[in-house]
Amino acid sequence: MSVEPQALRAVAARLAAGVAVVTVGWRGSVHAATVSTVQVLSQEPALLGVALHVDSRIAEAIEDSPTWSVSVLADDQGPLAEWLASPGRPVVGQLERVPSRPAREGSGRWLDGAAAWFDCSTVQSHLVGDHLLVVGQVLVADQGEPTVGALVHLRGRTRGLR
Ligand SMILES: Cc1cc2nc3c(=O)[nH]c(=O)nc-3n(C[C@H](O)[C@H](O)[C@H](O)COP(=O)(O)O)c2cc1C
Repeated sequence: MSVEPQALRAVAARLAAGVAVVTVGWRGSVHAATVSTVQVLSQEPALLGVALHVDSRIAEAIEDSPTWSVSVLADDQGPLAEWLASPGRPVVGQLERVPSRPAREGSGRWLDGAAAWFDCSTVQSHLVGDHLLVVGQVLVADQGEPTVGALVHLRGRTRGLR
């Protein structure tokens, strides 16, 4: 016997999670998507994991590119998280009004004002049920201003934490 998906979603919503944006160079543009499944999986070696739904474009994009980036969102970046989670937004130009700079190493971009950034190079990817678990070697890790807080996803909505 297994728990129903709807029941699982309701219970999982009680697990507070930090919100981040994955960016990856894809088809001559940069694709970006909001995620809450980023985890440091190992410290030595430095490995970061993220789980991406198999039907998402970000999963397809990350499979096509050896490198990608993560911007850990700040407490005031809720609208950005919403935009980069909205279905059907165009890939080309989706970051047009989002201040960002090229990643230090890799194909993605670093979003301005974020709490932290990682650049990663994929070392493993596993199909885990309906998600692709992508494991990246951390090439670069950097922090934003010390006063910047965190964006947290809890009970179906995001809220800023300082
Ligand atoms: C707070 C929040 C967290 C999310 N976390 C994830 C995640 O960890 N993995 C995932 O595949 N989608 C996640 N999503 C949904 C994606 O952001 C959304 O499906 C997005 O449009 C990515 O799909 P695309 O690349 O097809 O546009 C999250 C959405 C929100 C609002």
